[in-house]
Amino acid sequence: MKPAVSETLLAQPLTLPCGAVIPNRLAKSAMSEALGTLDNQPTSRLDRLYARWADGGIGLCISGNVMVDRRALGEPGNVAIESEAQLPALRAWAAAGTRGGTQLWMQINHPGKQAPKGLNAETVSPSAIPFRADMASFFDTPRELTHAEIEDIVRRFGNTARIAKLAGFTGVQIHGAHGYLVSQFLSPHHNRREDQWGGSPEARRRFLMAVYTEMRRQVGDAFPIGIKLNSADFQRGGFTEEESLATIQMLADAGIDLVEISGGTYEAPAMTGMDVKDSTRQREAYFLEFAEKVRARIKVPLMLTGGFRSLGGMRSALASGAIDLVGLGRLLAVEPELPQRLLAGQEPTQVIRPISTGIGVVDRMALMEVAWYTRQLRRIGEGGEPRPNESGLTAFLLGIVESGWKTFRTRRLRA
Ligand SMILES: Cc1cc2nc3c(=O)[nH]c(=O)nc-3n(C[C@H](O)[C@H](O)[C@H](O)COP(=O)(O)O)c2cc1C
Repeated sequence: MKPAVSETLLAQPLTLPCGAVIPNRLAKSAMSEALGTLDNQPTSRLDRLYARWADGGIGLCISGNVMVDRRALGEPGNVAIESEAQLPALRAWAAAGTRGGTQLWMQINHPGKQAPKGLNAETVSPSAIPFRADMASFFDTPRELTHAEIEDIVRRFGNTARIAKLAGFTGVQIHGAHGYLVSQFLSPHHNRREDQWGGSPEARRRFLMAVYTEMRRQVGDAFPIGIKLNSADFQRGGFTEEESLATIQMLADAGIDLVEISGGTYEAPAMTGMDVKDSTRQREAYFLEFAEKVRARIKVPLMLTGGFRSLGGMRSALASGAIDLVGLGRLLAVEPELPQRLLAGQEPTQVIRPISTGIGVVDRMALMEVAWYTRQLRRIGEGGEPRPNESGLTAFLLGIVESGWKTFRTRRLRA
């Protein structure tokens, strides 16, 4: 059923450089569902979850991160797409998620070093830089990638995009944010290489540009390719706003269709609103100031994600002209029909509060929030309803047990 529309600003379609049209200004940002099988195939739980979002009236729905290599997972239960043999399950997912004209894009990712200890046989990164001491018990120090391995990963991004298109996804997004492999290459902290892949800002951008070019080669000019990119890493010696602006300019010149702005990494989780100033949080959208800077300098469609909580906040960001699409994450995990309400001019019924276990060190980690919201996504995928009042501590403890068991099974299956 199409929503009753009384909210004209949010209801306007958006035409992208490649010609594709997004039916309204509301976009679901990627949220990793961990609803794949232990050998990383899509399941009917994804079909159910994405049908719910499509029926809820979202204009653009971006999948949780899909991996390009089964040996390099970010979490157990990730979907990893390597071959056309996976098309039947992917087609069912794409058909469900594009109902009613929703744009469904696959977010494509390689975690690099940001994969929990024990899940993969080894972790890799542009350089062998360890995690901060207090994170070292969760993440291994990675091995430096070889040139041949880098070229293989570039091809894999293109191959996964090609298969997504064949399956009926209507676009793809490169995950270039939040400290995963693309973001590791961009960062002077994580990338200390002195060959063609590092040493200067231009060389650090080479991997991303190679990924974009290969994807474009494999999907053609009329298919949307977007990117999620950090405004900054919020990390000493990391990727800065100036470098982010230069990267966006380069991508815009190359023909990217949409840039989604976010920020932070697991070491400095700005994307969930931790580590951002109170004044910023009160403006709702954490990275709005940066979006304004991009808008002033670069002509490219912009989506902004992180912190949107009210109809007023979304409308004013759109009305200011700084952005083209409002990106929503957590609200849609607890209220999948929210776009219908917003398009009818109504406020969300749910309030997003920090999820707390009562254990300080745990509450400061982004992984904690992810564990709680992943449980809500699973409930919807299993045909039920999210439980906005679920205890943070219960979700955390069950999450640890389950993740440990699934990690063990994943390793066994892959051996
Ligand atoms: C459960 C969960 C999983 C997430 N998984 C991803 C992901 O796979 N890829 C990604 O780019 N961002 C991911 N994010 C971050 C969201 O896309 C978004 O940037 C963040 O939640 C801030 O937006 P919000 O304030 O509207 O929630 C995830 C967030 C949550 C809560």
